Amino acid sequence: MTNLLMARTILAYGHPILRQAARAVGTLNGDLQQLIDDLIETMYAAPGVGLAANQVGSLQRVFVANPSEDHDPSKLLVMINPELVASDGEIVAEEGCLSIPDFREEVRRARRVLVRGLDRSGHPIEVEGEDLLARILQHELDHLNGVLFVDRLSPAKRDILLRKLKKAFPRR
Ligand code: NI
Repeated sequence: MTNLLMARTILAYGHPILRQAARAVGTLNGDLQQLIDDLIETMYAAPGVGLAANQVGSLQRVFVANPSEDHDPSKLLVMINPELVASDGEIVAEEGCLSIPDFREEVRRARRVLVRGLDRSGHPIEVEGEDLLARILQHELDHLNGVLFVDRLSPAKRDILLRKLKKAFPRR
């Protein structure tokens, strides 16, 4: 059976689910496969380079990513129950988030990371990322822990941004 691909609504800054930690996936059932297909479709439609389940309102511990600009299928990454195993180096670069549209800030991250998890078939995978991929992996892992890139800013920059976000995303 083929799943119908469907772009879901991306939750915006202020939605409580974005602040909740996702729960480990137990069984890889049809609903999970549908969620993964929808995450991929939603990420490409946005367009973006990564999307975590929280962002479409699910608290399953899964994210998708594709650092290539042209949706190269060989670069597509699906990670279930991902865990950061190692990181090193430091790099500051501009970063955005599909849940915080139109806001970008420079964020300090590890330059290289090693992440372990399961692919969509349930096989263990290990992904080593550098630079952009490392940044995406850390950003999506943060999402699954209820953390947003604004939390990674210096207190001064964070205060300024939070005030702007309050205006841009009212009633939150
Ligand atoms: Ni994001």
